[in-house]
Amino acid sequence: MVGTGYVGLTTGACLASLGHYVTCVDVDRAKVSRLSAGRVDILEPGLADLVDRGIAAGRLQFVVGARDAVRHAQAVFLCVPTPMGAGGSADLRAVEAVTAEIGDVLPRGCALVTKSTVPVGTSKRIQELVGRTDVPVVSNPEFLREGTAVADFLGPDRIVVGSDDLAAARWVGELYAELDAPVVVADAASAELVKYAANCYLALKLSYVNSIAELCERLGADISLVTEGMGYDRRIGRTFLKPGPGWGGSCLPKDTSALVKVAESVNYDFTMLTSAIDENLAQRDRIVAKIAGAVGGTLAGARIGVLGLAFKAGTNDLRDSPALAVCSVLCALGADLIAYDPAVDGEIAGMTVVDDAYQVAKDADAVVVLTEWAEFKHLDWAAMAELMEGIDVVDTRNLLDPRVIVDAGLSWQGVGRPRAAARITVS
Ligand code: UDX
Repeated sequence: MVGTGYVGLTTGACLASLGHYVTCVDVDRAKVSRLSAGRVDILEPGLADLVDRGIAAGRLQFVVGARDAVRHAQAVFLCVPTPMGAGGSADLRAVEAVTAEIGDVLPRGCALVTKSTVPVGTSKRIQELVGRTDVPVVSNPEFLREGTAVADFLGPDRIVVGSDDLAAARWVGELYAELDAPVVVADAASAELVKYAANCYLALKLSYVNSIAELCERLGADISLVTEGMGYDRRIGRTFLKPGPGWGGSCLPKDTSALVKVAESVNYDFTMLTSAIDENLAQRDRIVAKIAGAVGGTLAGARIGVLGLAFKAGTNDLRDSPALAVCSVLCALGADLIAYDPAVDGEIAGMTVVDDAYQVAKDADAVVVLTEWAEFKHLDWAAMAELMEGIDVVDTRNLLDPRVIVDAGLSWQGVGRPRAAARITVS
């Protein structure tokens, strides 16, 4: 397993738990020693336990140096990052560098498997780089969500394996036999495209939902009822229908840009996808406008309490977090930001990060929920109200119960739902 990020580490630890012998390789010596001692840096339920058990069973080890690690492997998984490169395309330098490093020492018949999300055609390119006909290249995309990666791995909706050597693809599929999931065996290009097509579809779905939420606000409808009514249609499904401050994270933004670029490379103008990306940016702007409205129209000098910074609940990942994107605009417009996230500490430019939710309320003109951590629902909102200067709560995740907020003497506004104004008490 080359690369011990979210994907490599989860895949390595889970494959070890299925009974395979796994060596995880990384260039980061300090990280390798931490992992060898069972210390996992990322917040991923169940992962540290699987790492411990894998090490104890002698089925999982961590080393530096890919060349030595792959010499006796039956399969080598490439799990190195493919970040958004210049112009929006996937940056394949890490994949290519590892391939060049290990190509000549791979044992005969060893499957070289790409887990990293790579543009269509990369398997072919890797095959050329390896320059060997006795090493089949197989695409085996992952569909792990951060925060539920172990559960997703062990209970997958499907396994996708693709290669121009179908026997090799099938053999890689068998590594997952214990999981009892449907296995889609495909040619290399189709398998590579599945990953992009799936992630981009999810992004389209969310941009669509955020657009419908905007219509709800303008038409006086309620998105939670609209999506409930839509979701019972099995062709649509009930998940991935929650509006929010826009989609983010380590995958959706980079994969949507990369697929637009892939399409451009074959002269296809993927306007549906570029619209979804534009809509996502517009959603962030609408959220900023909503917050500005809550503090009387001017953000300069306004004190905003921010609940949530991670790109979604259940993770400490800040990569491409819509919460941070909204905060950076608020900060640029002169707002004074006090933020709390249960999984994030340390300094972040443009805001004061505190370690307690109630501190964000202190003297705040408005409090904004940007990440859907369940604990925000269970705050003592009457105590929050006491601490606040203003009365507005902007709930960009529709997380809170508006009645609880109103009962606390505050006003609630979400996304695509009717506002719940504070009751005026006449004494
Ligand atoms: C995603 C894919 O789901 C996963 O299959 C792939 O392997 C990696 O990319 P992840 O980035 O962990 O996983 O996040 P996901 O749970 O899919 O959420 C993506 C973004 O959409 C987040 O910003 C999240 O807050 C947002 N989202 C999700 C919504 O706004 N509403 C929803 O209903 C669901």
